[in-house]
Amino acid sequence: MNVLVTGGAGYIGSHVVLDLLDSGHRVTVLDDLSLGFEKNVDVRAEFIKGSILCEEDLKTAFSTEPTAVVHLAAWKAAGESMVDPEKYSTNNIVGTLKLLKAMAGSGVQKMIFSSSAAVYGYPEYLPVDEKHPTDPINYYGYTKLAIEENLRWYSRLKGISFVALRYFNAAGYDSKNRVTVPEQNPQNLLPIVMEVSTGKRDKIEIFGDDYNTADGTCLRDYIHVSDLATAHTKSIQFLQQEEKDLTVNLGTGYGHTVLDVIREAKIITQHPIPYEFVERRAGDPEKLIASFEMAADILKWSPIQSDLNQILQTMWEVLHPNTTKSELIQ
Ligand code: UFG
Repeated sequence: MNVLVTGGAGYIGSHVVLDLLDSGHRVTVLDDLSLGFEKNVDVRAEFIKGSILCEEDLKTAFSTEPTAVVHLAAWKAAGESMVDPEKYSTNNIVGTLKLLKAMAGSGVQKMIFSSSAAVYGYPEYLPVDEKHPTDPINYYGYTKLAIEENLRWYSRLKGISFVALRYFNAAGYDSKNRVTVPEQNPQNLLPIVMEVSTGKRDKIEIFGDDYNTADGTCLRDYIHVSDLATAHTKSIQFLQQEEKDLTVNLGTGYGHTVLDVIREAKIITQHPIPYEFVERRAGDPEKLIASFEMAADILKWSPIQSDLNQILQTMWEVLHPNTTKSELIQ
């Protein structure tokens, strides 16, 4: 298939592009490079620098005649979305509506959407399955839910079939080291822990030590970004065979605490990782674990490289001092 990937130069997008190319698809990337790096886009893909908000850029992208769109272009910092909601409504919601308009105008009827566990808010039960109520606790999560709802409407009104993939905590890097430029100013636990190992940060602050978990720190379901990527390729296969829409979780079904992550990272990096307990962070659920049964049943997908050890190992390959320095100098 000929696939247009929006946000294909970003952290998750660049891994999705690799999986699509490795599976024999033709890929065009549309990315405004606000968070991504052209260097992370595999040379086999065509790259267009542009925004989903710009009709001219969309026109250029759709002139490549894609048969499916994988849509990842979005802002993603939950904390920032609470202080600058306009940035998130414009890029995430309005941007997606423009993309859908361009799809409808070009007769492209398949969309894979990058959604998030953030649509659920605080879990009422674990593991969280797709029937769990959606009640986002940050504006970022709301934008993802609003887009999912629009996809349902565009499916009814314009015949655009979709698969919405609700990612849990994405981490790791391509095991063949093909994504070479690491995320800048990472906001998430695992890359921050890695930056402490490399000495780029002095210590990590752990948000809370009195949660109801084995060691008092929060528990999350970490999923390798290459496992996430595979799910996009399988979703394209699904839409080739079925006319149905689908919304599924992507996680592993088990979790690790913050201290588990630090302990494992110390073993892999062989570097000290100083930490300090600070106040709980607002909006942090105590535990978050996915049920991925639906993805397993319907997409025939399951995580195969998401052991914490494997995730951290692939991060260390990309982020350890020598690589990081040489990449950042360029
Ligand atoms: N944490 C710390 N210190 C830090 C950073 C994180 O203790 O410096 C803790 C958090 O309190 C949390 C855990 O590490 O318990 C993971 O935090 P992240 O910020 O890495 O991830 P979140 O679970 O908050 O959110 C992530 C994405 C969201 C997405 C969600 C889905 O950032 O966009 O996973 O599960 F919606």
